[in-house]
Amino acid sequence: MVSTTEQRKKEHLELCLTKDVAFKEKTTLLENIELHYNCLPEVSMNDVDLSTNFLGKKFDFPFLVSAITGGAQVTKKVNKDIAIACQETGIGMGLGSMRAMIEDSKLAKTYYVKDVAPDIFVAGNIGAAQIKEYSPQELNESINEIELDALAIHINAGQEAMQPEGDFDFSGVIDKIKLYAEEISVPIYVKEVGHGIGFEAATALKQTGIKAIDVQGAGGTSWMYIDALRKKNGMKDTFREFGLPTAVSIIEVKNALSGEKKIIGSGGIRTGIDAIKAIILGADLVGNAMPVLQAQNKSASKGVVKYLDKFRQEMEITAFLLGCKNIFDLKKQEYVVLGKLKEWLNQE
Ligand SMILES: Cc1cc2nc3c(=O)[nH]c(=O)nc-3n(C[C@H](O)[C@H](O)[C@H](O)COP(=O)(O)O)c2cc1C
Repeated sequence: MVSTTEQRKKEHLELCLTKDVAFKEKTTLLENIELHYNCLPEVSMNDVDLSTNFLGKKFDFPFLVSAITGGAQVTKKVNKDIAIACQETGIGMGLGSMRAMIEDSKLAKTYYVKDVAPDIFVAGNIGAAQIKEYSPQELNESINEIELDALAIHINAGQEAMQPEGDFDFSGVIDKIKLYAEEISVPIYVKEVGHGIGFEAATALKQTGIKAIDVQGAGGTSWMYIDALRKKNGMKDTFREFGLPTAVSIIEVKNALSGEKKIIGSGGIRTGIDAIKAIILGADLVGNAMPVLQAQNKSASKGVVKYLDKFRQEMEITAFLLGCKNIFDLKKQEYVVLGKLKEWLNQE
């Protein structure tokens, strides 16, 4: 018998790989950031080194594959392929929600990747709405079993509101995150799923013991659209464009956290230029999900390596064209804000 959770994971993969599930009109607003091209950069591109550390692990370039999957037999290969590519390119990955393996321990093997990628940073994943149901001890057992380096808690009120089997009770979530941050055996960070984290939420999260916020802003994959397609509730397009654009989300989270915790810039990050802009705005790392999944679907781990190598080169070329050798230099870069993003920021 296939459980509801396992069935949902299969449907998500299928919808992502067969339909256009991106925001249609809303963008990340990163296109409203203009970078200062330096035609005389006075650095060699060979000296550009974007390596960084995140929660105790080294990343050869600042990219963390966003949470994608696990929990159904078909997802085992997806996770292994992505992990092999992360090992080869020296970066980290997030797994999809671990709810399925907590419900059925036989599914743990669909998440376990350390056999093929012993050195990479691997983050587990659980929903904020679900942590009410599980004790930290239960989670710790699963964390040990699949040898995680961190746990991401996804806060996804929008997505849950669209899911046929959604959990709409988000009361008490902050206290539960606090408890998890104290009792979970690995560092915790919080992520959205593509509709963005704003100033107020980040301010509340700052008071918990989490180590980072992964903004997952709007402009890439629209999870309110995907789950409305599954629910067949006639709201298919109503909430497709809902959420805070990624550029806004990074700026708001940065303002809320005032340097006390790390930031991952994500949600619709599609090129190395987007990634560098996210870092200049305040992110320490970047990530994406859909392009990595599509690369895996096309040509397994080789496809993912090819995609990640290109992405890394794009980031390095952009840094070179700004005269920056490393993330530290990028953080000091000035930029110009135009258009809709400027209008948005002027009202804050
Ligand atoms: C097939 C698929 C499954 C996903 N499952 C999860 C999940 O289980 N937990 C989670 O936090 N995010 C999940 N996500 C959301 C991504 O981590 C990410 O937040 C979102 O897709 C926006 O990033 P993108 O625009 O780069 O795709 C999933 C994404 C994809 C494509």
